[in-house]
Amino acid sequence: MSKNRFDYTKYKPFQPIGLKNRRWPDQVITEAPTWCSVDLRDGNQALIEPMTVTQKKKMFELLVEVGFKEIEVGFPSASQPDFDFVRSLIEEDKVPEDVTIQALTQARPELIQRTFESLKGARKAILHLYNSTSIVQREKVFKTDKAGIIEIAVAGAKEVKRCAESQPETEWVFQYSPESFTGTEVDFAVEVCDSVNEVWQPTPDKPSIINLPSTVEMATPNIYADQIELFCRSIKNRDSVIISLHTHNDRSCAVAAAELAVMAGAQRVEGTLLGNGERTGNMDIVVMAMNLYSQGINPGLELYDMDRIVSTVRECTQIDVHPRQAYSGDLVFTAFSGSHQDAIKKCLDIYEEGSTWEIAYLPIDPRDIGRTYQDVIRVNSQSGKGGVAYVLSNKFGFLLPRWLQIEFSQVVQKVTETTGQEIHPDEIWELFNQHYLDNKKVLSLENFTIEKSEGRETFKAHLDYFGKNLAISGEGDGVLDAFVEALKKAINIDFEIMEYGEHALGQGADAEAVTYIQIRCDGRRYSGVAISKDIIASSLNAFMGAASQLLDEQQAAA
Ligand code: KIV
Ligand code: ZN
Repeated sequence: MSKNRFDYTKYKPFQPIGLKNRRWPDQVITEAPTWCSVDLRDGNQALIEPMTVTQKKKMFELLVEVGFKEIEVGFPSASQPDFDFVRSLIEEDKVPEDVTIQALTQARPELIQRTFESLKGARKAILHLYNSTSIVQREKVFKTDKAGIIEIAVAGAKEVKRCAESQPETEWVFQYSPESFTGTEVDFAVEVCDSVNEVWQPTPDKPSIINLPSTVEMATPNIYADQIELFCRSIKNRDSVIISLHTHNDRSCAVAAAELAVMAGAQRVEGTLLGNGERTGNMDIVVMAMNLYSQGINPGLELYDMDRIVSTVRECTQIDVHPRQAYSGDLVFTAFSGSHQDAIKKCLDIYEEGSTWEIAYLPIDPRDIGRTYQDVIRVNSQSGKGGVAYVLSNKFGFLLPRWLQIEFSQVVQKVTETTGQEIHPDEIWELFNQHYLDNKKVLSLENFTIEKSEGRETFKAHLDYFGKNLAISGEGDGVLDAFVEALKKAINIDFEIMEYGEHALGQGADAEAVTYIQIRCDGRRYSGVAISKDIIASSLNAFMGAASQLLDEQQAAA
């Protein structure tokens, strides 16, 4: 068979590690891990234009405000701007008491020394050492064997220890990453990390951080979880080690991988706000934290001002957030589809403030992250009656009865189908006005009187009927009854009231009444809506609206 250009046979499947009796699938996450932001290091390294000092300061302030207690602030031995930024944070005393800054270094003595130099004077710092351990990196990049890799790591660890001892004014935490961990045999990764820890001698009171990166996401998230569980089971002195995760998003599963790996025993997670980072990005900490939040777990980060997070990240990275990005995207709490709108409206109508959130199609309350219900339902040609009704009720206070929702949504749909575009709430309101409230009526009420005697109402009125004055009078059990009776006699048309609804618009002394009426004549239905300070006038005028439609139609047919 000749090979074509789209040739999957040149790839090989990732080999599962064959973990027996895995325990992670039965675990449930009940608390947030320790978060470490790598926006200013991994995120920054991946930008077309790395952040300026001003942008880095803005980003750092945001990270502190959001509540990160560990922040990787740069790769000072690889970049002078990073070195200067770290210095400015320390010299300008910009690091809050409860925040620890972290700096990355390769495992080479001169680079380690330069990193320590950048951190001089820090109250507390995490020194993050890494070297690559995967099969591909060993065989193709470094052209060295396992022993060679261990030698690099151990020499680096020794240099870190030596430098730290010469800067005792700083409280040091040591972190080691076997970079490209996901492509490394787990037993070898354990061997390297044990060797590093042998140098550092961590204790339960002064643990080291072992960060296990999915530098490249190579397999399904369950495989990463297996790797983490096996690593956790195998590493020596587990209680003296904090297991940290650092996932990239090559297969779009960085969050899932981190979640399963936390179930597998990891305690700490590195990532970036909104997922900026090398290639497809680092794990989006906003998503993972909000996933916890939506399960009723305190995420340990304050993400309520999502718009500020989005705008600051955009300003610093010059990367837009996709409108469908989980939680932070502009459209993620918006329903266009009619059935979704209907379900959301029904749930929201019965939702009581303070009760458990159970709203169809909305995993969280948009207001929790500064979005409003107004954004939830937007109307285009895919929308149904629920969306239109939601807009009229939420923005304008009109609680349309179901029959009118159905009727008016067809009016709206005609417009959206013609334009092919979304329709703004103000345009929906305009259409509603044109159709029911401000339309020219061939029948209207000039004045009326009502007399009551022995439980019966006598209704007398003057109407404008096709521009002529028409006096009517009738009797009934109620005002509307008497009015209908009077009108039927006067214009000689038989009709019946099929639907009637009314409610107050607004509150207090200024509240008006709105009435919705539907009448039927010869099997056809006609609707009217009216607003008035007086409930009787509002009913009668709504009726006039419906009757005018009927008369209009009859005149047009004549
Ligand atoms: O992705 C990665 O492996 C890294 C390491 C340096 C931790 O960024
Ligand atoms: Zn990374």
